[in-house]
Amino acid sequence: MVATIDLIAAARPNFMKVAPLCKALAAEGQWCRPRLVHTGQHYDANMSDAFFRDLGLPDPDIHLGVGSGTHAEQTAGVMVAYEKVCREQRPDWVVVVGDVNSTLACTLAATKLCIPVAHLEAGLRSRDRTMPEEINRLATDALADLLWTPSPDADENLRAEGVPADRIERVGNIMIDSLEMMRPAIEDRRHFEALGLPAGHYGVMTLHRPSNVDDSTRLAALCEVIDGVTQRLPMVFPVHPRTRQRLESFGLWERLAGLPGLRLIEPAGYVDFMSLVFASQFVLTDSGGVQEETTYLRIPCLTLRESTERPITVTEGTNRLIKSESVLAQVDAILSGDWIAGRIPDRWDGKTAGRVVASLRERLGA
Ligand code: UD1
Ligand code: UDP
Repeated sequence: MVATIDLIAAARPNFMKVAPLCKALAAEGQWCRPRLVHTGQHYDANMSDAFFRDLGLPDPDIHLGVGSGTHAEQTAGVMVAYEKVCREQRPDWVVVVGDVNSTLACTLAATKLCIPVAHLEAGLRSRDRTMPEEINRLATDALADLLWTPSPDADENLRAEGVPADRIERVGNIMIDSLEMMRPAIEDRRHFEALGLPAGHYGVMTLHRPSNVDDSTRLAALCEVIDGVTQRLPMVFPVHPRTRQRLESFGLWERLAGLPGLRLIEPAGYVDFMSLVFASQFVLTDSGGVQEETTYLRIPCLTLRESTERPITVTEGTNRLIKSESVLAQVDAILSGDWIAGRIPDRWDGKTAGRVVASLRERLGA
């Protein structure tokens, strides 16, 4: 019997998690058939298609076309659409990744139909329930049958929540598989040259968390900070669609666009973005995935958040959680060479997809 394994991809940070697994499962051939399901949570060409192209992902087998909405609208939309898929073309297993609304929605739809679900990147906790992702993580991990974790802190979180040991498997960090899979293309791209940025002497920034961008006072204060940073070194800022909308509606876009040291660009494709990060001096972000990529690359990372669900990037890596008031002092520290070297966490080695495939093979008795 050939098992159909649904791989759920929905939003930008999902595509790089699904790509190495899709490739590894397709190479197995005999016992499984990966079926790529795109929920449509992200849909702009530069938030979705660009990643399929860059990462060599095949076109989705199924596209749910759900799009944007409130949390309930989006989660419910994905549940209704994916339940229909599961009833009409039932998969044998469902693999969800990360912590976006579609992750939880597909988990709920599948588990209620008694279809086994595996969660890749399980166990991460920020302990901040004002983050929508934290709700998604808690609920997904409570329901999923198999929890693939990236780090020991994730195992501990799950154990503390009473999850039995036989549901937890530490497979490592799949983001590193994508990075290593794409490394030759990333190293060739040198996107900083196209943008006129001096190699090794610029910073990269990303911002999209509602806590940073949805409040006009907070976002205005961050624009002042960005002004200060760009007086120290040039910065490139690929702007997430949520952030662009907020900057425009709060009347802050022109303020940023007028800064001579800032390159405001459209959201970048994976290879362009990683090539910018590779040659950067530091990164200023509130992204989850970027904290991990910088730790792996040993590039200083300033995270504009109160908490992180990826504490290993702070305890072992090059990441620091900072308040907006301390950004300039931290940038000065980085520019004067005063930063921790960090080390790469265990099982962040580019071999996670292989461990995931082995785990699935065992569960399916293949
Ligand atoms: C979502 C995830 C977040 C993740 C982020 C990665 C949830 C709750 N949030 O946040 O965890 O870190 O993706 O980027 O699942 N929009 C577009 N084009 C698009 C997609 C979105 O214009 O292709 C705009 C829409 O106006 C939308 C807004 O961005 O309302 C927010 O999109 P949404 O997917 O709801 O949340 P993100 O902020 O992208
Ligand atoms: N990323 C990208 N282009 C960008 C910004 C980010 O390719 O303009 C990549 C980044 O390298 C990382 C992933 O997108 O692999 C993280 O996505 P995002 O920050 O949107 O989501 P989060 O990880 O915070 O959920």
